[in-house]
Amino acid sequence: MSRRREKSRRRSGFPDGFVWGVATAAYQIEGAVDEGGRGPSIWDVYAHTPGRTHGGETGDVADDGYHRWREDVGHLEDLGVDAYRFSVSWSRIQPEGTGPANPEGMRFYSDLVDALVARGIRPVVTLYHWDLPQALEDRGGWASRGTAEAFAEFARIMARGLGHRVAVWTTLNEPYCSAYLGYASGVHAPGRTEPEAALRAVHHLNLAHGLAARAIREELGEDARVSVSLNLHVIRPDDPDHPEDLDAVRRIDALANRAFLGPMIEGAYPGDLLEDTALTSDWSFVRPGDLEISRARLDLLGVNYYSTVRVRRLGEGERRAGGGDGHASSDHSPWIDADSVEFVPQPGPHTEMGWNIEPEGLTDLLTGLARRYPGLPLVVTENGAAFRDVVAPDGGVHDPRRVGYLRAHVAALRRAIDAGADVRGYFAWSLLDNFEWSYGYSKRFGLIHVDFATQRRTWKDSAYWYRDLVRGDGGSD
Ligand code: NOJ
Repeated sequence: MSRRREKSRRRSGFPDGFVWGVATAAYQIEGAVDEGGRGPSIWDVYAHTPGRTHGGETGDVADDGYHRWREDVGHLEDLGVDAYRFSVSWSRIQPEGTGPANPEGMRFYSDLVDALVARGIRPVVTLYHWDLPQALEDRGGWASRGTAEAFAEFARIMARGLGHRVAVWTTLNEPYCSAYLGYASGVHAPGRTEPEAALRAVHHLNLAHGLAARAIREELGEDARVSVSLNLHVIRPDDPDHPEDLDAVRRIDALANRAFLGPMIEGAYPGDLLEDTALTSDWSFVRPGDLEISRARLDLLGVNYYSTVRVRRLGEGERRAGGGDGHASSDHSPWIDADSVEFVPQPGPHTEMGWNIEPEGLTDLLTGLARRYPGLPLVVTENGAAFRDVVAPDGGVHDPRRVGYLRAHVAALRRAIDAGADVRGYFAWSLLDNFEWSYGYSKRFGLIHVDFATQRRTWKDSAYWYRDLVRGDGGSD
């Protein structure tokens, strides 16, 4: 590390200009699904389908963020964060997924952005956090190329509407989940179990990313900052001395990581991915020129990190017939190749999601990316943990395990920086307890507790801890 850089560090050990933030997503917090001219999204339809979510819960009300956003901006201000990462509900802007912008929808986000900027909080806008307009799903969803083209139009509308007030544009959040969980394992909306459609979705999401990046820059010029947030998997072999397990790591790395990094950063799909999936698809939906589009210049690469996964190669006799019956062996599984790779339960400690806590995985991920893509700045766009939180008789919410989790991961991030990784920011997931997709309201990730019956917000101890960290008061130590 250069002396200059060392000097510029703050007491907490992070470089000057390091961005501390918190994140949310539209369907998880907004509610008000029938208001302001909003059309239905695939998550409305999925959550309202019996048997899909925990207890049949839906995002109809969620955190009522659509009405309470001013109060929530107040919490952001009190936390002292530098940036707020939120997503736009596409069907608030284009109720049918195409056509002109709905002024009421645009006003909602424009007012939010104004309020953030007025308080010195940088808006980091995710354009797609899983809530595809249902009208587009009715025309094939992400398995259809038309969805990528529609997304570019939506991106253009948002760039025009919010303009230079937005600090960073994130095209997609975790396209892995949109493609594999939405179209192969079916544990996310739209709940399809069609492996070939999932691979089409992978490609159309990569294409959508590139088309959107181009549209944003056409509207705002080359200085618009474009990113994508990937849930890159840190994959451990069940037995590191077993070559078959190392092959399982390679296979999942291809499906989960390189299927996105390849087209978006290197302009090509990895050859082994195409070979591994040859029985599922011939990839003929990739058209000449697509990969030049998907390789749009990335100003930042966002990584969402929670835990690691462990895999083993199933022996011939152990292979399951088929796959795609809607019950993945783990919610991490892409389900493609599920008959040859098993996700093995990890030793603890675990969070309430059953995910193992392994902060070293974050260091490994960031340093690995820094080595592979020198010159590409990284941001942790999500990190956090679900625990069973209750409001205590003293009125507080005491969540020492979340504080411990966050502290350990912030330290792991710092180790990556010390090892030379160019990491520019960290966003805790999440500002508020919210609708955790198929798990409904049963999993609480917030720094701020939400009583879903009254919508009352209560700061957890982790929120106070994070505020102190952000202020540079040594919360990380
Ligand atoms: C990833 C997703 O982006 C977010 O929506 C979700 O709530 C968290 N991880 C926790 O599962």
